[in-house]
Amino acid sequence: MSEPDYVAVNRVAWTKANAEYTDRKAHAAWTQDEITWGMCNARESDLQMLPDVTGRDVVELGCGTAYLGAWLKKRGARRVVGVDITPAQLDTARRLDEELGLGLELVEGNAEETGLPDASFDLAVSEYGASIWCDPYKWIPEAARLLRRGGELVFLRNSTLAILCATDEGSPSETLQRPQLGLHRLDWTEPEDEIEFHLGHSEWVRLLHGSGFELVDLAELYATENTPDHSYYGFSRAWAERWPWEEIWRARKR
Ligand SMILES: C[S@@+](CC[C@H](N)C(=O)[O-])C[C@H]1O[C@@H](n2cnc3c(N)ncnc32)[C@H](O)[C@@H]1O
Repeated sequence: MSEPDYVAVNRVAWTKANAEYTDRKAHAAWTQDEITWGMCNARESDLQMLPDVTGRDVVELGCGTAYLGAWLKKRGARRVVGVDITPAQLDTARRLDEELGLGLELVEGNAEETGLPDASFDLAVSEYGASIWCDPYKWIPEAARLLRRGGELVFLRNSTLAILCATDEGSPSETLQRPQLGLHRLDWTEPEDEIEFHLGHSEWVRLLHGSGFELVDLAELYATENTPDHSYYGFSRAWAERWPWEEIWRARKR
């Protein structure tokens, strides 16, 4: 089956990332007790963006090494299915799952078109997975299809403001670098070829509503005392102390 060009480009990038750092960091992530979000390392206990998952069925779209899915399984989810396009990332997830015995189901596939059955999950999550690497006009309807009525979608992405201020090299600036009008696909070439998708807020709201969701919450994340000093993907603590670096959307299927 043919796949969109960006899937092949992003698989190459994530195979490299797995060799360079995600595999090495996966054990610490899987064994972390607390649920935290994104580069800001925001505590879920402060944010309360996730529903109670006890006895629930969860799908993680663009799971990577699947530590978020692992945390949700440890919180009592009945079933956690992780979907990802990159075999190396899934290999890491499978190794950790075997070692820690959590029983995740890990599936190779495009989160825009998973092939999983309709209405088979109570919660769909994505933390920098489908939420930025998939075309929202494809993966949001796919998430809606996968969820049961009343099921929830919770995803983390870069804030739209951070994307508008990012230079072509990916570092944050204090000036707008691109128009919001027409914001959709972004082809980055620095530090390597990667293709992301981003929308403005009103477009997200309209897409969620049009796909059968009602918006429950939107959290904008700033750097806090719990945010480490790191520089992954151009993260700048100084920037994130003043403007929201990341955001978490929570929506419920009508
Ligand atoms: C940053 S990781 C996300 C997982 C984890 N939460 C994290 O922050 O490391 C991004 C993952 O998205 C996956 N991905 C990219 N495009 C995808 C697609 N179309 N369908 C499923 N997964 C995709 C990549 O293979 C990669 O493993």
